[in-house]
Amino acid sequence: MSKPAKTPSKTAPRKYTSKLPSVILKTSAVRRIAGRYPFGHSGDIEDAAPGLAPGEVVDVRDEGGRLVGRGYFNEQGATPLRMLNWDGGEIDQKFYRQRVRAALERRRGRITGTNAMRVLHAEADGLPGVVADQFGDVLSVQFRNAGVERHRDLILKALREETGATSAFERSDTGERRKEGLELVSGVLWGNVPERVEFFEDDLNLHFAPMDAQKTGFFLDQRDNRRLMRSLVQPGEAFLDVYSYTGGFSLHAAKAGAQSTAIDKDKVALSVLEQEAAANGVRVSLRWGDALEQLSALEKDRRQFGAIVLDPPTLAKRKDDIPRAKRIFTDGAESALRMLTPGGHLLISTCAHYIRVDDLLDAARVAAGAAEAGAEVIAVTYQPADHPHLLSVPESLYLKSILLRKE
Ligand SMILES: C[S@@+](CC[C@H](N)C(=O)[O-])C[C@H]1O[C@@H](n2cnc3c(N)ncnc32)[C@H](O)[C@@H]1O
Repeated sequence: MSKPAKTPSKTAPRKYTSKLPSVILKTSAVRRIAGRYPFGHSGDIEDAAPGLAPGEVVDVRDEGGRLVGRGYFNEQGATPLRMLNWDGGEIDQKFYRQRVRAALERRRGRITGTNAMRVLHAEADGLPGVVADQFGDVLSVQFRNAGVERHRDLILKALREETGATSAFERSDTGERRKEGLELVSGVLWGNVPERVEFFEDDLNLHFAPMDAQKTGFFLDQRDNRRLMRSLVQPGEAFLDVYSYTGGFSLHAAKAGAQSTAIDKDKVALSVLEQEAAANGVRVSLRWGDALEQLSALEKDRRQFGAIVLDPPTLAKRKDDIPRAKRIFTDGAESALRMLTPGGHLLISTCAHYIRVDDLLDAARVAAGAAEAGAEVIAVTYQPADHPHLLSVPESLYLKSILLRKE
C-alpha cells in the first residue's frame, strides 16, 4: 500500500520554479538589494547566465540559489542590474500596467492647479529607466536603459491606456543611453503631437516645442518653488531668475507684479519665454549668456533685486564634480547676495543627487562671508510629489533648495 501524501505545511517555503536565466549576487550585496534597493553594480554580481542579451529580464538570486527578485541585466551597462520586483512575479503587460496605475494612484489629489505632471519617475515609481511627463493630453516619454528599451511596446501600451493621452512623443536623446549601448532617438510615438505643447500652471499659460525643448520639455519639479517665490515677491520689486530656462519663476513673479529679469544661455528657451510673457500679459527682461558673467555685469551696473533664484543644471554628475559645483554655487550666491536688498530672498537649488543641502549651505556661507552679508535660512525644500523620493532609493532624492533672507 502506498503511503498517503503529506499535507503541505502552510509555513513551508514556496518552491520557486522559473524558466528565466539567473544572475547571482555576491553575499555582500544581497541584504542591500533584497531591501528594495534597485541597483546592482558590477562588484555586486557573482555570476550571470551566459549569452544574456542586453537588458534581458533575469531572476536575481543569492549564492544559495534563493530568489531575491527580478530585474533587467545589461552586462555592458554602468549599472548592470536594475531590479523590477522582489516577489518573482512575471514582467509582462500586466506588470507594467500595474506600475503605471500605482504611479497615478500615488499622485492622486497631490498635484493641483495644473494639467501637467510627471506620471512616471523611473525607479522611484518601480520602473528604472522610464520617465514620462503628461501635459494635458500629450505625453513626453524617455527610455534610458536597455531593459526598458526591450519592453518599450509593453510600457507604451500601459502608458497609453492608463493615462488616456491622445498623443505622445519620445525624447530618448539623453547621453545616458550611450552607456547602455543604445542610440539616441526622438520622435512621435502616437497621435498628432502638436508643434506647441500647451499646458497651464496656476494662471499662466505655458508651452514648449517638443523637439526643441530641453529634456522632456519643462522643469515640472520646480513647480512648488515657483509658487513659493511668487508668494514672497512684492509688486514693483525687481526679481532675478538666474538659469531661467523658459522663465517659469520670472513669469510667476511678473504675475505678482514684480519686474522680472531672466538669464539663460539657451536662446530657444528665452524665445519661448518672450512669447509666453506676451501671451500672459506681463513683461520679462531677457539676458542671454553665461550666468556668472551676466551676474557680474549686473553687479557692475549696480543693479539691486528684491528676490533672486539660482537654479543651475546638474553641476555634479559624479562625486568628483562636487568641489567645482560648490565653487559655481559660491560665486553665484556671492553676486546674488551683493545685489539683494536687505530683507530680500535668495533661493538656491540643486538638481544633483550628489550635492547635499549641507553643500548648498556651505557654499552660501562662504558667499555671504565674501559679500559681507548676513542671512537667515528661512526654508529647505525638496522635490514635489510627482517626483517621489523613496526611502529605499537614496538616489531618488535629487532636488534640494535653500531659501535665504538677507539681513
Ligand atoms: C534646471 S534648468 C532651470 C529651470 C528653470 N528654473 C525652470 O523653472 O524652468 C537649468 C538651466 O540652466 C541653463 N544653463 C546651463 N548652464 C548655463 C550657464 N553657464 N549660463 C546660463 N545658463 C545656463 C540651461 O540652459 C537650463 O535652462
